[in-house]
Amino acid sequence: VSALAPLGQQMAPYACQRRTPLLHSNQPLTEALETLAEDAGFSGSEGRSLAFTRAASVLKALPGRLSALEELGPLPGIGEHSRRVIQDVLEDGVSVEVERVKLSERYRTMKLFTKIFGVGVRTASRWYQEGLRTLVDLQERNTKLTRQQQAGLRHYEDLNTPVERGEAESIGRMVQEAVQRFLPGASVTLAGGFRRGKPHGHDVDLLLTHPEAGREAGLLSRVVSWLDSQGLILYQHSQENSFALHEGPEPPGGRDVLDRFERCFSIFRLEAQGRLGAARGWKAVRVDLVVAPVGQFPFALLGWTGSRHFERELRRFAGHERKMVLNSHTLYDTRLNLFLPAASEEEIFQHLGLEYVPPTQRNA
Ligand code: GTP
Ligand code: MN
Ligand code: MN
Repeated sequence: VSALAPLGQQMAPYACQRRTPLLHSNQPLTEALETLAEDAGFSGSEGRSLAFTRAASVLKALPGRLSALEELGPLPGIGEHSRRVIQDVLEDGVSVEVERVKLSERYRTMKLFTKIFGVGVRTASRWYQEGLRTLVDLQERNTKLTRQQQAGLRHYEDLNTPVERGEAESIGRMVQEAVQRFLPGASVTLAGGFRRGKPHGHDVDLLLTHPEAGREAGLLSRVVSWLDSQGLILYQHSQENSFALHEGPEPPGGRDVLDRFERCFSIFRLEAQGRLGAARGWKAVRVDLVVAPVGQFPFALLGWTGSRHFERELRRFAGHERKMVLNSHTLYDTRLNLFLPAASEEEIFQHLGLEYVPPTQRNA
């Protein structure tokens, strides 16, 4: 056992109890584990996928670079299989298992297909079973595609080119400008990975609200129609608000990720910036727009800042440790039988009895 041991001694069991910066010292290890997590997800093994994701997340929160497995000590959340992978990467620089996965036809095809906007694991899996292997196959065999998938395929290259922070900010300004036309005083907040400090992302997540509750109703469709009329939208589908407080909280473990805000999944047409888009003049960018009434805004902001794993852990912590139900709308205390209101993210952490974790430390 080295002098560093054990690195993970003081590691808290839930990711929402830890600080996880964007940059960490164990990239090769987390990449290997996340590849296995992804591959397990591709075969529908959610439990196995989560186990690898948890292990990777623990390594991201370590204060230094791991050089031997023993340094980990009896860390929570790193199982047998993950330890083997870690050991292989530490000893040989690579894990044979991971390399085999990366080269496998199944993994590569699933990866290719799930990178199409609107294609999830189930659809990709079906196509794979049917013998489809390439994007050309999809076209040549006249595979039935939804309107969303057609747009995804049409803009495949752009949508799989990282969105730069500057691009995300321009889109934020475009939306802000449209919002001001219809509802002065409303705000537009950049959430998602960019709020966690990521320099680029796969999309732009924007949260809309207004300081007076109720004024935000109907805003989204006006904003989207106007942007559309300006030729700025290549694709969109919207969903109306279906949240009703009087229904009470969703049962824990029910709908995990989806919320019921008025929202719009879209593809924007962004005028080229700098040399990258100059050749063609514009670039397709995925944008998620979500509208929250001000009373739910802190919950929406917390829910839409991520990371996905941080969110999952917050909800698990709330349920298991506090008997509370947290979602992107509210926090409900099942022992007191009441909703716990919050005016800020800080207050939500307080209700949960958690130390506040700033967005840049939520990269679990
Ligand atoms: P990149 O976009 O790849 O940079 O990462 P990201 O962390 O921004 O991921 P993404 O845009 O997929 O999601 C941003 C956050 O919003 C994540 O924490 C998700 O958990 C959350 N999120 C995504 N879709 C939904 C949804 O339908 N409902 C809720 N409540 N949250 C969602
Ligand atoms: Mn995002
Ligand atoms: Mn998103």
